[in-house]
Amino acid sequence: MTDSLRTFADLARRRRSNLRIDPERSVDPELVGQLIAVAATAPNHYRTHPWRFRVVTGDAREGLGTALATELRADPDFDPVTDEPKVTKALSKYLRAPVMVVVASRTSADPIATLENRDAVAAAVQTLLLAATAAGLASLWSTGAAATSAEVARFCGFDPSDSTVGLIYLGWPTAELEPVDRPEPEIIHIDRA
Ligand SMILES: Cc1cc2nc3c(=O)[nH]c(=O)nc-3n(C[C@H](O)[C@H](O)[C@H](O)COP(=O)(O)O)c2cc1C
Repeated sequence: MTDSLRTFADLARRRRSNLRIDPERSVDPELVGQLIAVAATAPNHYRTHPWRFRVVTGDAREGLGTALATELRADPDFDPVTDEPKVTKALSKYLRAPVMVVVASRTSADPIATLENRDAVAAAVQTLLLAATAAGLASLWSTGAAATSAEVARFCGFDPSDSTVGLIYLGWPTAELEPVDRPEPEIIHIDRA
């Protein structure tokens, strides 16, 4: 392995989903902007630049949780007894990090382009996570009910046709997570007709 590949592989291994974040320690908005600029270097077919980024900080994080809580309560199957804990969690969960980056993908009239846009946005999210790791930040890519919530999308000012790819927790770590051992990916070489 070359030195530069080893450096990159080490960065990729050190990226962990880490919610051990100090919610009180702010992240410089300029740094967040730099991370998003790196994320937007991801490949995207036909240069559609299909990503939409929203940086949610301060009291707005409560608004994000309220949007999710509203969505949960509006579900016709919502049971106030068994489902209220989910609402309680929704109201506080985004306060666990000083910065939430909500990322959505644009829908196209062409269904294949819509799929490709989403793939491109997922690549941008991974690039964002790697950039955050390189900057010493902890991060976690979350989805769950928020990713399909019209209320959350409305709060973020996304178009109704956009699809939310992730809500990314970002902040300074209070503890690092060790890299984990991962199964070797199967590699099948096809080198004959
Ligand atoms: C599309 C996607 C959605 C995810 N959604 C959640 C989530 O809602 N909550 C959560 O705790 N982790 C979520 N994760 C993080 C994964 O659980 C995590 O990557 C996995 O456990 C492996 O851990 P690692 O990232 O530290 O390697 C998501 C990851 C991806 C790629």
